[in-house]
Amino acid sequence: MVERTVVIVGMTGSMGSQALEVIKKMGSFRVLAGTYHSSFDKAQSLAKEYAVEKLICTKDGYEELEAFLEQRRPDIVMVCIPGFASLPVTLKALRTSKRVLLASKEALVCGGWLVKEAMKETSCELIPLDSEHSAVMQLYEPSVEGILLTSSGGALRDWKLEDLDRAKPEDVLRHPVWKMGKRITIDSATMVNKGFEVLEACELFQLQASQVEVLIHREGLVHAAVFLKDGTIKMHLGFPDMRVPIAYGLTYPDRRYEHRKWPNFAETQLRFQQVEKCRYPAFYLAYEIENDYAKRTAYNAADEVCVEAFLQGRIRFTDIARVLAKVVEKIEGTPRDLQDLKDVDEASRKLAEEVIEWL
Ligand SMILES: NC(=O)c1ccc[n+]([C@@H]2O[C@H](COP(=O)([O-])OP(=O)(O)OC[C@H]3O[C@@H](n4cnc5c(N)ncnc54)[C@H](OP(=O)(O)O)[C@@H]3O)[C@@H](O)[C@H]2O)c1
Repeated sequence: MVERTVVIVGMTGSMGSQALEVIKKMGSFRVLAGTYHSSFDKAQSLAKEYAVEKLICTKDGYEELEAFLEQRRPDIVMVCIPGFASLPVTLKALRTSKRVLLASKEALVCGGWLVKEAMKETSCELIPLDSEHSAVMQLYEPSVEGILLTSSGGALRDWKLEDLDRAKPEDVLRHPVWKMGKRITIDSATMVNKGFEVLEACELFQLQASQVEVLIHREGLVHAAVFLKDGTIKMHLGFPDMRVPIAYGLTYPDRRYEHRKWPNFAETQLRFQQVEKCRYPAFYLAYEIENDYAKRTAYNAADEVCVEAFLQGRIRFTDIARVLAKVVEKIEGTPRDLQDLKDVDEASRKLAEEVIEWL
C-alpha cells in the first residue's frame, strides 16, 4: 500500500493524539510533522512514541508551519486546533495538500466563504472530522432536504435551571459522553458547539440553517440523520468514538479501521428531546446570524473569551450566553477577506472583555 504523508496541526490535543493512535494502528501513513502550542513535553513524548518526524511550535506564530506545508506539500493535513487560529491554517493547508481533515469547525463558522474560495482554486478535498458531519457526509445524497444533528446536551443537561448560575468549571468539564479539550467541553454545555456545528453543516452541505434540526440524544449512538424527499430517513449510528471518523477521513473512500463494536439493539433505547431555549439560549443565536460572517466571527471570538473567563472564575456559567448575545448584537461589518475577519475577531474579543467588566 502506498504510504501517505500527514501533518497534524494540534497534535498534542485530544483529536491530534487520537489521530496518532489511529495512524499507528492502521499503518501506511507517515507523520511528517505535528504542531503543539504549549505542551512541549507531551509533544516530545508523542513524537517518540508515534515516530513523528518533526515538531513545530505555534506559540510565537504560524510561519514555520506555513513554510513547512509549502515546502513538503503533504498528502493530508489534519487541522485540530481550537478557535479563529484554525482559519488561516486551514486556508494554507487547502493550498498545499491534497486532503484537509477538518476538526476545527471554527474555521467554517468564521470564514466559510474563504474556505470555499480556496477549494475552488485547488483540487484539495475537505473532509469533516466532527462525528455528526462525518455521518452526514456518509449519508448524503442530492435529494437531501434536511438533516438532524444530535447533541449530548453537555454536562449540565439535568441540572435545575436555577442552579446553572452556580456551576463550577469542574462541573461543566465532566462531559457525559465525550472526553475532549476544555473549550469544546464547555461549549457542549452551553451548546455553542452545536451552534457552530449548525453553521458548519450549512457550509459543507449547502443548506439553510432552517434545514438543520438539532435534538438532544442521550445515548450518543445516533450521530446524524438525513431526510430525503421521498420520505426516507437515513440515520448514522455507532458508539461515540472519535477514532472512527478520524480513521474514515484518513482512508476515505475506503474503510480500513477495524473496531467491530456495535450496540445490542434489543437492550438499547434511543431517545430524542428538544433543545430548551431557556437552558441553551446561546445555541439559538447561531440561527439568527447564519448569513452574517461578522456576527459569526463575533460569536466565536466572544465565546473564546468567555470560556477562558469562566475557567478563570471571572464569570458565571450563565454569563457566557449574556456576553455572547451582547457582542453579537453590537458587532457589525461586511468582511471581505482574511484581514477583515482578523479585525472583527480582535474587535469582538475587546468588546467581550468590556462586557465582562460591566457585568
Ligand atoms: N475532542 C474532540 O472529540 C473533538 C471532536 C470534534 C471536533 N473537535 C474540534 O477539534 C478542535 C480541537 O479540539 P480538541 O478537543 O482536540 O482540543 P484540545 O484537546 O484542547 O487540543 C487543542 C490542540 O491545539 C493546540 N492549540 C491550542 N491553542 C492553539 C492556538 N492558538 N494555535 C495553535 N494551536 C493551538 C494545543 O496545543 P497544546 O496542547 O500544546 O497547548 C493542542 O494541540 C476544536 O476545534 C474542536 O471543536 C474536537
